[in-house]
Amino acid sequence: MDHVDREKEAAHDPMAPRGPPSGTWLQKPIVQVTYSLTPTHVLMALLSLTFAALFAYLSLLSKPAPTTALDNGVGKLPFMGYNTWNAYVCDINETVVRESAELLVSLGLKDIGYEYMNIDDCYAEKNRTEDGDIIESAERFPSGMRNTTDYIHDLGLKAGIYSDSGWFTCQLYPGSFQNEDRHVFFCADIELFRETWNFDLLKYDNCAIPFDEIIREGVVGKYKRMADAIAAQAASSGQEPILFSLCEWGREQPWLWAKRFGQSWRTTDDIGAHWDAISSIINQNSFYTWSTDFYGHGDMDIVNAIFAIGNGDLTYEEAKSHFTAWALMKSPLLIVWLQLSAITEESLNILTNTEIIAINQDSVVGTAITPFRWGRNPDWTNDYTYPAQYWSGESENGTVIMLLNVESEPADMFFTLAESPWIRAGRQYSVRDLWTHTDNGTAVRNLTVSAVPAHGVVALLLRDAGDEPAGLDPKCSIMEWCTDQNGTVLEGGV
Ligand SMILES: *[C@@H]1O[C@H](CO)[C@@H](O)[C@H](O)[C@H]1NC(C)=O
Ligand SMILES: *[C@@H]1O[C@H](CO)[C@@H](O)[C@H](O)[C@H]1NC(C)=O
Ligand SMILES: *[C@@H]1O[C@H](CO)[C@@H](O)[C@H](O)[C@H]1NC(C)=O
Ligand SMILES: *[C@@H]1O[C@H](CO)[C@@H](O)[C@H](O)[C@H]1NC(C)=O
Ligand SMILES: *[C@@H]1O[C@H](CO)[C@@H](O)[C@H](O)[C@H]1NC(C)=O
Ligand SMILES: *[C@@H]1O[C@H](CO)[C@@H](O)[C@H](O)[C@H]1NC(C)=O
Ligand SMILES: *[C@@H]1O[C@H](CO)[C@@H](O)[C@H](O)[C@H]1NC(C)=O
Repeated sequence: MDHVDREKEAAHDPMAPRGPPSGTWLQKPIVQVTYSLTPTHVLMALLSLTFAALFAYLSLLSKPAPTTALDNGVGKLPFMGYNTWNAYVCDINETVVRESAELLVSLGLKDIGYEYMNIDDCYAEKNRTEDGDIIESAERFPSGMRNTTDYIHDLGLKAGIYSDSGWFTCQLYPGSFQNEDRHVFFCADIELFRETWNFDLLKYDNCAIPFDEIIREGVVGKYKRMADAIAAQAASSGQEPILFSLCEWGREQPWLWAKRFGQSWRTTDDIGAHWDAISSIINQNSFYTWSTDFYGHGDMDIVNAIFAIGNGDLTYEEAKSHFTAWALMKSPLLIVWLQLSAITEESLNILTNTEIIAINQDSVVGTAITPFRWGRNPDWTNDYTYPAQYWSGESENGTVIMLLNVESEPADMFFTLAESPWIRAGRQYSVRDLWTHTDNGTAVRNLTVSAVPAHGVVALLLRDAGDEPAGLDPKCSIMEWCTDQNGTVLEGGV
């Protein structure tokens, strides 16, 4: 039993002295017992032992489960699709939803994985019905929500809906708190979303939080309520669980706990369509890429690449960097466009790069790329304008490299291959450029990419191509502790 347990136990022991433990506190009760063994003392000793045992048992029971990702059969890979929010905010209706869904199909996006058509906030009436049910806005969805999801499903797509873990959504439509799984009247929200309306995904926001004296929970408990409702609904209906997309903006470190409950969690505040927003999100996520793997994905928010080109402030190179970072960090890829005219060939080219998407949707390796060197800044620097620049990760077909030029001018970028943990020293690697779709020869020990555009990106796939040429000098590509078998540490080796 460790120190902390003793203290806790002492707090429940009527005979233990209060206050911080000292050298004498342990002995005191023993001294009392030896002096006068009256029946009262024996009884009290027994009582306190029982207390301690009960406390130990209870604290075992309440120990949280280890945080492994929830594998309930859905959301092994990051989901891809369309979300109405960044383009339309509250100005949505069934026409917009149908037309966006049709475009996912006609533009060929569905065929390369963009399969969710997600409706965000503002689809409901402001008040629940007398029976307590959320009801779709008669003005915006005159044909009814089920009609809309049927239409989406008939196109071969999946459908996503939105709610909130508090009293209201962020736009003050009904939230789901205390309605997650009511089992009264006609239906609980989860049954409405999954069975009546037939949605496949639920995005769950974090606004309108109940008073402490009502909720008596942290944000974890608030999200657990809906996670439990989802599991119960799936169990009782035999349906696949709805995919649960948590959106609490990275406030309470969701990368530590959200994978117990759902398949993705937003890691930051809302994105904007300008480089500052992109670099800031990349910077923040560089510190918790480790939490993403199959069935649990850090969600970097909507991909503003199409929205931005011609509409926002992103250049073509910035939009490419944006999409590459999101895809290779295994974020869900939710796209958006405001007008058809914004969907230029240039922007479609970005969103349909199937070599990049293949990494995002890798069914063999679920982990994200992670920086191996920050570059301009010392490693581990938190800098919203100049995030980490040199990244790598594993994939089904080899090591993925992402180089990000955070400067506002073109720059040459150089790295030693073995700086990445996924590279084997003494081997050489074939280089595939995932943006030019070309094989770019073989890299031995290091690689320089010249004139990476301002805020531009390079994405490479390095495949093992056998032993490097014999007799290379120096003997090690990374010299620290480079040592001959006879014990001689080479120059530069220390
Ligand atoms: C649906 O919403 C769009 C975008 O806000 C708007 O242009 C259109 O007029 C709306 N249609 C109807 C029938 O309300
Ligand atoms: C909606 O609910 C609010 C608060 O409960 C109430 O004041 C309002 O009258 C209701 N509106 C309608 C149209 O029922
Ligand atoms: C949806 O409603 C419209 C009328 O608004 C109707 O024409 C159409 O057949 C319905 N679609 C489905 C899939 O039920
Ligand atoms: C690996 O290569 C195969 C064959 O080219 C391709 O079909 C697959 O998508 C690639 N996987 C990844 C994760 O890039
Ligand atoms: C790979 O080769 C293509 C075609 O020559 C070139 O455009 C591209 O910049 C090269 N990529 C790298 C990373 O050097
Ligand atoms: C890069 O690797 C080559 C071997 O391919 C080596 O000759 C050269 O010294 C290396 N450059 C640096 C800067 O380490
Ligand atoms: C030990 O290794 C070093 C470096 O490879 C070499 O220069 C030296 O001759 C070796 N010494 C002996 C005694 O083999």
